[in-house]
Amino acid sequence: MERLDKRLAATGRWSRTEAKALIRGGRVTVDGTVCRAPEEKVPESAPVAVDGVPIPGAGPVYLMLNKPAGVVSSTDDPREATVLSLLPEEYRRRGLFPAGRLDKDAEGLLLLTDDGPLAHRLLSPRYHVDKVYYVEVDGALDDADAAALAEGLVLGDGTACLPARLEVLEGGRSAHITLQEGKYHQVKRMLASRGKPVVYLKRIAFGPLILDPELPKGGWRALNLPEIEALFRH
Ligand code: URA
Repeated sequence: MERLDKRLAATGRWSRTEAKALIRGGRVTVDGTVCRAPEEKVPESAPVAVDGVPIPGAGPVYLMLNKPAGVVSSTDDPREATVLSLLPEEYRRRGLFPAGRLDKDAEGLLLLTDDGPLAHRLLSPRYHVDKVYYVEVDGALDDADAAALAEGLVLGDGTACLPARLEVLEGGRSAHITLQEGKYHQVKRMLASRGKPVVYLKRIAFGPLILDPELPKGGWRALNLPEIEALFRH
């Protein structure tokens, strides 16, 4: 447990006096509820926000980002804008990294964290964490595609894919596809091997996390406590 004004001052953005003024002014929330008491003791894991923008605490950070197309998932790139460039400075300084990658032209749910052991477990094929994508293709997906994916595709270069679920949506031009692994360009390569190239790709779920429909492209928020607990339970 830590005093709320101390937690704000620890970001380096505000002095203790400024933090107290912000809190008394009703601009600070703890787990979504306004708190006007600078001396209030808050648990390390409680999400704190100033004017609606979450601030990091001393413990690990877990953020949900709605990745837009055009930024790369790496943390450092000499030529391209990275997902970290979408975050405020105090988060960039924390050494956050994405748990799993999305292609530059792909959109949707990316979990950013500095919790290496959790990220490692979520990404390990041993733990079978579902990743759900919404795809649009050039062509029409059908039951034969769903059956082939359910069986486990072998790609042209011999790469064997684990069985995957394909739920074909209206007209076959779009679908939900669920994978339990994350090989390089996997969805694109799987559907290209069926002769139906992907023209749009968005991740909509990662394990127990569902992309928040309120998040605009490029928007982010801290995970709430139930979401963090669900990740650990998973
Ligand atoms: N599969 C792909 O082809 N690209 C992604 O970004 C994610 C999954």
